[in-house]
Amino acid sequence: MESFVYRNPTEILFGKGMIGEISSRVPVDRPVLMVWGGGSIKKNGVYDQVKAALAGHQLVEFGGIEPNPLHETCMRALALVQDKGIKFLLAVGGGSVLDAAKYVAAAAVFPGVDPWEILRTHGSSVTAALPLGAVLTLPATGSESNGNAVISRKSTSEKLHFASNYVYPVFSVLDPETTFSLPAKQVRNGLVDAFVHACEQYMTFPAAALLQDRLAESVLQTLVEVAPRTLANPRDYASRADLMWSATIALNNLLSCGVPGDWATHMIGHELTAFYGIDHAESLAVVMPGVWTYKLAAKSAKLSQYGRRIWNVADARAAIDKTEAFFHSLNMPTRLQDFGIDAEDAARKVGERFASRKVAFGEQGDINGAVAAEILRARA
Ligand code: NZQ
Ligand code: ZN
Repeated sequence: MESFVYRNPTEILFGKGMIGEISSRVPVDRPVLMVWGGGSIKKNGVYDQVKAALAGHQLVEFGGIEPNPLHETCMRALALVQDKGIKFLLAVGGGSVLDAAKYVAAAAVFPGVDPWEILRTHGSSVTAALPLGAVLTLPATGSESNGNAVISRKSTSEKLHFASNYVYPVFSVLDPETTFSLPAKQVRNGLVDAFVHACEQYMTFPAAALLQDRLAESVLQTLVEVAPRTLANPRDYASRADLMWSATIALNNLLSCGVPGDWATHMIGHELTAFYGIDHAESLAVVMPGVWTYKLAAKSAKLSQYGRRIWNVADARAAIDKTEAFFHSLNMPTRLQDFGIDAEDAARKVGERFASRKVAFGEQGDINGAVAAEILRARA
């Protein structure tokens, strides 16, 4: 196992009825901005629960954060923060709302001229942020317990991430009941995103980290086990709770301790969303089998361990096939043509973009523009 620093400052408030707990954690004496999305929280009662918990607080609201949150929208929220002298942000929604709140929290005290610099520098230019809390309504991203955010920019068709220790939520409420209203498509997306997060920190090469392997495999096995149940019975609390906690553990710094990470699937996937607008998890389901196939030899030790332990198959190729079949079982397509995307067009655009940025990803740092293009061609 390599040396590591493990840090996670977010307090998790997990379970039924836990929204009530926020009243003592959100400041009463300062203006608070409640940030939310397109209105799902108004239909499922979460909005009313938050308002009831914060009666007596100085609440200002900003609704309208879209999926794959836009820089342009966040800048409108930032103007409100400045206008109202906001000192705390409360994000209520899915990963997009949480990520937007993180960006606004960092932008509010950013000393530079253009907040987009935060994304361009992937967070290294962030030296402070307003404190934020979260009420999560969609298990998927892990944003509720990490320092990451992914923001898109309409004007340039970019989708970039940043990471900073300053934007961890100080608390996050995870009440599985708030997710009962999710459409099946979003549950499917959440299952796949969490699954791929565990894989990005696991499917590399053996790193003498036995516990880390078992932790990642536990998340994968739990997701495989609860997936059919939580899709078939959206109001089954037990399976939804397991999904929610799995998604948090999948990307809260625990699985990455002491082991190499891949993340090429995410980096290629973000470009597919930026260029073609497909959902984050959809992009991952298309790309990951391609990355694994391209790296079959280098990943073979972990692929066959994963095959044996998760799917009861002996070889690496069969493990990839099982993974794709699992995605299909969730009604998740895995080919570019399923989304009407021309593979040659995607290969050219993503290849050129990686080349112009001079970036390369993967645990060996070898997934550059040309390789990304080859992977995408194979996912037609
Ligand atoms: O906007 P509303 O009306 O709330 O509807 C949302 C949205 O349409 C809806 N929804 C959320 N909770 C609901 C609900 N509908 C009914 N009942 C509920 N309880 O679901 C739709 C999708 O929401 P969104 O927040 O976009 O989904 P998700 O949580 O999957 O977030 C995706 C974003 O997170 C980024 C992705 O790139 C993408 O931009 N990621 C963030 C990460 C992080 N911060 O660590 C890591 C991930 O790898 C990912 O990149
Ligand atoms: Zn993801």
